[in-house]
Amino acid sequence: MSLVAQQFGGPSGPAGHLVTRMLARGNAGFNRWVVRELAGFLPAAATVIEVGSGPGVAVAEFARTLPNARIIGVDRSRVVHHSARRRNATAIADGRVILKEGNLDAAISFQPADLVLAVHVVYFWPDPVAELRRIHAALRPGGRVALGYQLRRNMPKPSQRQFPKAGFTLYDSDAEIVGLLADAGFNAPHVRIFGTTERPAGRLATAVA
Ligand SMILES: C[S@@+](CC[C@H](N)C(=O)[O-])C[C@H]1O[C@@H](n2cnc3c(N)ncnc32)[C@H](O)[C@@H]1O
Repeated sequence: MSLVAQQFGGPSGPAGHLVTRMLARGNAGFNRWVVRELAGFLPAAATVIEVGSGPGVAVAEFARTLPNARIIGVDRSRVVHHSARRRNATAIADGRVILKEGNLDAAISFQPADLVLAVHVVYFWPDPVAELRRIHAALRPGGRVALGYQLRRNMPKPSQRQFPKAGFTLYDSDAEIVGLLADAGFNAPHVRIFGTTERPAGRLATAVA
């Protein structure tokens, strides 16, 4: 079962295609909400970098919502890019979406960004503060970081069990996420909830560089 958790941290092989479909279906509503929450902060011609863009649902939503923006999606999994490329084919052809295999370093030539986003990725970072410092350095002054996540208690029970066994970190409070952002040098943290407070379907923490 922790093999399944590992797939969420980096889909690979034939099972990776199945996991990519699960991500696209299961996380679509949350990803679209995240983009709606963030788009209002951005200039029309924004540069947006998404780390761990997976099947590219948020990338596609940004490209639709901000047609003059440049959206760079980076993901370390080769498998997810098939799905992300299909989903974003027109915007890629127009040069508005760029997808790269790798981590944040793969987007270095597009910096400084107005926004760096990572949805359901923070659990997989071995050193989240170091990763957030790299994100800070990739932002223009006043640019934003946005982390989409779910707290341990609101995750499906198998993920609650298997993520820690696979070496991934689950979080028990928004304060823990806000603490990571503060330790990495971000200001003005803000947490929003997708769904109801009793049954949240996801959370979004933003902060300013
Ligand atoms: C659970 S999936 C989430 C995908 C997508 N953001 C979503 O909400 O559906 C996590 C993704 O992050 C990628 N990933 C994890 N750590 C990464 C890193 N350090 N750099 C780039 N991609 C990473 C994985 O390959 C995987 O595709």
